[in-house]
Amino acid sequence: GGIQSKTTSVPENNMQKQPFIIGVAGGAASGKTTVCDMIIEQLHDQRVVLVNMDSFYHSLTPAELTRVHEYNFDHPDAFDNEKLLSTVEMLRNGKAVDIPKYDFRSYKNSVSRRVNPSDVIILEGILIFHDPRIRDLMNMKIFVDTDADVRLARRIRRDTGEKGRDIGMVLDQYSKFVKPAFDDFILPTKKYADIIIPRGGDNHVAIDLIVQHIRTKLGQHDLCKIYPNLYVIHSTFQI
Ligand code: ADP
Ligand code: C5P
Repeated sequence: GGIQSKTTSVPENNMQKQPFIIGVAGGAASGKTTVCDMIIEQLHDQRVVLVNMDSFYHSLTPAELTRVHEYNFDHPDAFDNEKLLSTVEMLRNGKAVDIPKYDFRSYKNSVSRRVNPSDVIILEGILIFHDPRIRDLMNMKIFVDTDADVRLARRIRRDTGEKGRDIGMVLDQYSKFVKPAFDDFILPTKKYADIIIPRGGDNHVAIDLIVQHIRTKLGQHDLCKIYPNLYVIHSTFQI
């Protein structure tokens, strides 16, 4: 009766394998991208996609552009959280999605890239744990914990180099916006992390453990492929 109809409502060829979603937060220049790249490198045999929160910065209006030094890029309102949420939901449901590329020089979104559904989705950004709706979609949450002086030193090097900015402006932005926002918005999200990685990309042990865990979780999904009944039993008991 009831159980029969429930089981037949899950066609075997339509067993949706939900991707494993990882969130990586931490201060600016803490080493988030480096950690993500190391995880991706080790998961080379899996389909992995990296979604950077930078892609969801609001584009600046002409008025804002004229006073760019007064704009707070470290505040939660600087990001289009609704778009980020819908993008993650699409990928989670196995749908391809276009993600814009953010240009730090023009302060605008430029051409989009097509992102295909994957087995592992890594969401990276300073405030990726801020919105509870996005946080709740994550299977694993990582916080990259790097000392403030190291972050500032790396930021100066990066922003005066690849972003072509003036050192005085980088320091002003840091004391006016970056440091206060880290204390007020980023650091308070550390409590949501499952794993806190000291020393970022230098911490090979932490990265190995994380990759092992992901592989274990992906392996559990694969069991459902080999033993489809496992899925049926599981879904019946969940109802
Ligand atoms: P985030 O994504 O948190 O902003 P990144 O991984 O992009 O941080 O690192 C910021 C800068 O610091 C980059 O220029 C990167 O090359 C450098 N960097 C990151 N990790 C290390 C490390 N362990 N040692 C030296 N430089 C690093
Ligand atoms: O890659 P990362 O996490 O370091 O990126 C976040 C940082 O980028 C923020 O600290 C923000 O101040 C900076 N940013 C910027 N200019 C922009 C957009 C973001 O300096 N146009």
